[in-house]
Parts: sequence; C-alpha cells; structure tokens
Amino acid sequence: MLPLGKEHTMSGKTIGLLGAGRIGAMHAGILAKKAGKLVVADPASWRARRVAELHGAEVRSPEGMLASEDLDGLVLATPTDTHAGLLCEAARLGVPIFCEKPVALDVESTRRANAAAKEANIPVHVGFQRRFDAAYSAARERLAEGEIGDLRRVHMGTLDQAPAAREFLAASGGIFKDCLIHDFDALRWVTGLEVEEVVVYGTDLGLPDFADFADAAEAVVLLRLTGGVLATAHSSRFNGAGYDVRMELHGTKGTDVVGMDERLPVRSLEPGVAYPRQEPWADFIARFADCYERELDAFLDVVSGRAPVPATIDDALASLRIAIACGTSLREGRPVRVS
Ligand SMILES: NC(=O)c1ccc[n+]([C@@H]2O[C@H](COP(=O)([O-])OP(=O)(O)OC[C@H]3O[C@@H](n4cnc5c(N)ncnc54)[C@H](O)[C@@H]3O)[C@@H](O)[C@H]2O)c1
Repeated sequence: MLPLGKEHTMSGKTIGLLGAGRIGAMHAGILAKKAGKLVVADPASWRARRVAELHGAEVRSPEGMLASEDLDGLVLATPTDTHAGLLCEAARLGVPIFCEKPVALDVESTRRANAAAKEANIPVHVGFQRRFDAAYSAARERLAEGEIGDLRRVHMGTLDQAPAAREFLAASGGIFKDCLIHDFDALRWVTGLEVEEVVVYGTDLGLPDFADFADAAEAVVLLRLTGGVLATAHSSRFNGAGYDVRMELHGTKGTDVVGMDERLPVRSLEPGVAYPRQEPWADFIARFADCYERELDAFLDVVSGRAPVPATIDDALASLRIAIACGTSLREGRPVRVS
C-alpha cells in the first residue's frame, strides 16, 4: 500500500466503474486522473454520460461492462442491495474488484460474494475509507505503541447534516448497516478488538422515511468489546450543525481524539475559546476527500499486484454482524450478542 501522502498518477490500467450516482461520480473524478482509461456504466444512462463527459471516460451498458474483456479492475458503486449479485457476476471477469460498503445487507449474501471471489481467485477491496484517514491511522499506531496506555473506553459518532433521498434510504439497510458500519469497521481496525455485545436505543422520529423501513433517524449504541473494553457509538441523520465524525480513545495514560479539527461542527461555550474557527464539514465527500483518493490509490496497487487488499469481505462481514445485532437490539429492546 502507498504510504499516506503518496499518490498514483496514470497507472496505465483500464478501470470499469458500475454506478455513476453520488459516490460513483466522485470515484470517477479520482479514477480519471489515475487510471489509463476509465469506462462507466449506469442503467440511468444519462448519469453515465454526464460523468463520462466530465472526465473523458467511455460509456458502456451495465451488461456490456460485465462482458468486457479489456478491464484490469472494476469499481462497484451501485446501490447496496445490488453489490453481492454484481460481485458474483463480475467475479467471472477475473480482475480485482473494489466494492463500496457494505458488501450486502445479510450474512448469507456476503458469504456468497466471498465464495465467488475466492473461487475466481480475485481480490476484493471493500470501501472503508476511514482506514486511509491520517487521524484514524495515527490513533491505531499510537494505541499499538502504548502511547495512551491500556485502552479502557472508545466513544464514536457519525452525524449526517441531512438524510439522503428516500429511494437511497429504502435500499440502504438502515442507519447501522449503512452509516454506523463505518464506525464499527474503524473500531475493529484501530483497536484490533472484536465487539461481543451491543445494546441500542433509537427513534424514527415518527418520520415515514425511517418508520417505513424499520430504520432509525437517531441512534445510540453501547458496545462491549473483547477484554471488557467499553464503547459507545451514536448517529443522527439530522445534525443541523454539519457532518460530524469522531472517535475518542480513552486509555490509562492519555486520550486521543479523531475528528477534532478546525471544521468540527460544534460550538465551544467556554469564555475566551475560539474553537473551531472554520466552516463546518457539510458531508462525507468533503470530510473524507483525501481518504477516497488514497483508498483508490490502494485499489490501483491491488490491481497492479503491488499490495494486498486493505479491507476484505471478511472485514465487511465482521462489521455487518455488529450492525445486524444493533438492528435486533433496536427491534427487541434487549442486549444482543454479536454472532
Ligand atoms: N464509503 C462511503 O463513504 C460511501 C458514501 C456514500 C455511499 N456509499 C455506498 O456507495 C453505494 C452507492 O451509494 P450512492 O450514494 O452513490 O447511491 P446512488 O443511488 O446515488 O447511486 C447509485 C447508482 O448506481 C446505479 N445503478 C443501479 N444498479 C446498477 C447496476 N446494476 N449497474 C450499474 N449502475 C447501477 C443507479 O442508477 C445510481 O446511479 C452504496 O452501497 C453506499 O452504501 C459509500
């Protein structure tokens, strides 16, 4: 994997991109700079054309993309409920695949996609971009080096300024599988610990966009990790102040914080404190722009055979199991063991 700060230019590879929506359009901008050639497909062909015109890419039909013989790698940025089926189909192309998180909404489909990839002997890199964030990386390193002593508690949050469109929410799998799954992956990656049990409170605020899909608009999760370390994670789809992503790690010698920068969407009420000073983060695209770039650099390294996959389908499955346990806890109002 390239170290933080290094980047690819013109890898000379031909990369296919399925899905030219919110995240696909952003990935296209990055890939167009770094791949030799970019090919885009979307059943909403106007989206594929718009992205292709913007970035000098070729347009293909989704069926044509899945029958292509000239690809060196494929990026899946389609709705979550299509990932597993597309992974199984695309495995036949025999090229490395980058798949947006989560790989699927259930364990069985995730396992099926994993089996198809293993049978075809292709690497699959799952899009957990926080693994490429400078502060999350520093937190992981400092914890491993004993800089904050023994880890006792972790507090995390992912707060969206406003919810996505209803059609997205309908296919997203809900706040745990779609949103907090990033925190669950970061928790496992930074601490090296697994989650054993969760307890959840959440509310749909009486809004059909959440109630209709048994989803929550606001949620608070308590987590018990291996070795008795305790954690919390909270999430909102209505954080009017801005996009707020944080992780606090409390150890016996110190406390490290990810996300406490000059664009944190909070206001300090302490006299004489002028922090934070800059415009708050608006959304994930702004907050994690450099990470999305580094994760695709890492994918191009996988495509070139220079590096192993940084986040696997097994990682995605582990985080999905935590998200599923959260959903059960919310529905049944009880602590749930992660199985
Ligand atoms: N890593 C992150 O931070 C992050 C952020 C946002 C979204 N995502 C993930 O990315 C995925 C897409 O999310 P989005 O917000 O871009 O959704 P979106 O609805 O904006 O875009 C999805 C696009 O895929 C297209 N599509 C549907 N079926 C297709 C197919 N078979 N072949 C090709 N294209 C197809 C749709 O027409 C649409 O244009 C989701 O899985 C989501 O969880 C990840």
